[in-house]
Amino acid sequence: MLAGKRILLIIGGGIAAYKALDLIRRLRERGASVTPVLTRAGGEFVTPLSVSALAGTKVFQDLFDLTDEAEMGHIELSRSADLIVVAPATADLMAKMAGGQADDLASTLLLATDTAVLLAPAMNVRMWGHAATQRNIATLKGDGIGFVGPNAGDMACGEHGPGRMSEPLEIVAAVEARLAAGPLAGKRIVVTSGPTHEPIDPVRYIANRSSGAQGTAIAMALAGAGAEVVFVTGPADVQPPEGVEVVRVETAQEMLQAVEAALPVDAGVFAAAVADWRVTRAGTSKIKKEGGKLPVLEFAENPDILATVSQMEAGRPTLVVGFAAETDDVVAHATAKRARKGCDWIVANDVSPATGIMGGVENAVTLIMADGAEEWPRMSKAEVAQQLAERIAEALG
Ligand code: CTP
Repeated sequence: MLAGKRILLIIGGGIAAYKALDLIRRLRERGASVTPVLTRAGGEFVTPLSVSALAGTKVFQDLFDLTDEAEMGHIELSRSADLIVVAPATADLMAKMAGGQADDLASTLLLATDTAVLLAPAMNVRMWGHAATQRNIATLKGDGIGFVGPNAGDMACGEHGPGRMSEPLEIVAAVEARLAAGPLAGKRIVVTSGPTHEPIDPVRYIANRSSGAQGTAIAMALAGAGAEVVFVTGPADVQPPEGVEVVRVETAQEMLQAVEAALPVDAGVFAAAVADWRVTRAGTSKIKKEGGKLPVLEFAENPDILATVSQMEAGRPTLVVGFAAETDDVVAHATAKRARKGCDWIVANDVSPATGIMGGVENAVTLIMADGAEEWPRMSKAEVAQQLAERIAEALG
């Protein structure tokens, strides 16, 4: 959901600063990069070393650090982020923001930016309830600043009431919601992924080596760009992404049903490695060895999900994207496949064993469109997904 997102995290001075450490972990787990800024007061509660170890990057602390200014000026620091999160946001920091003050790195960054800002306030219940704080909050809301929390509960100071900072996962959800307004906001997209399993009998099945990695990365990138994603997955090795509707299926026939149930959609991305055949009359009881007699399996062709959707008479998605796994003559085979199935684009990849692509983390694809082919350099599956999501956003306008 947050893949590729850049978060500037300002950690203010409050006991809740320890939760900011977990927040960094949670954001990074979801693919975001976190650039931490620690205020002087924040540094009294958590150490720069813990913060930078968890963020995997340098922590910025001083407005007048000439080394930092030489590397990345404070103006640049605040503008290169997709979102600025202040957690904990103290009463003091909020007062400075509301008053437009800039006397340290955090407040200067906040004044120098037009990037969206999300505050997770944390303070004593009386400070929260004070007229001055409430006035500042109203001002900040009027300025378009977002808020998450605070929660009510027991406070570290022994009092009870609103003022506890939201939990890290609540802040993550607020971050996701805030960033959801991407180029694909309002678009609904179905993605198929993973292998299918075609039963032979109750304990055996036919499958293939698809890990589901590329389809999962695509669903994640599309959701990250704001799309509403229905993720129809066969039994894959990788976990489905967060922030998408997951529909788990086993067979090709179930996958087709799930895709049809997801319609109408603006786009369909068919990344699943669907089994071409299923075993007819898959037994309901286990096939037993019978004195050297070999079982004979009879096959039927599975429905072609990509072709079915591509050739819909009414309600066809605006954009249908298929995949082609080829071992030779990649472009020629994939171009023919595009025409045969009737989809708009084919993402073709060379899966000859020497490439290490099947089951690997990298991919080298050629995007086949009506007006020609475009060869992409070898890159990670996450980057392929990101680029494809950008192209889909352009195509859906
Ligand atoms: N596809 C599908 N339903 C099927 C088979 C394939 O939706 N029953 C989709 C896949 O998800 C993929 C594309 O069609 O988008 C791949 O087409 P396919 O003809 O299966 O190509 P390959 O797997 O590359 O195999 P072949 O070269 O044998 O045609």
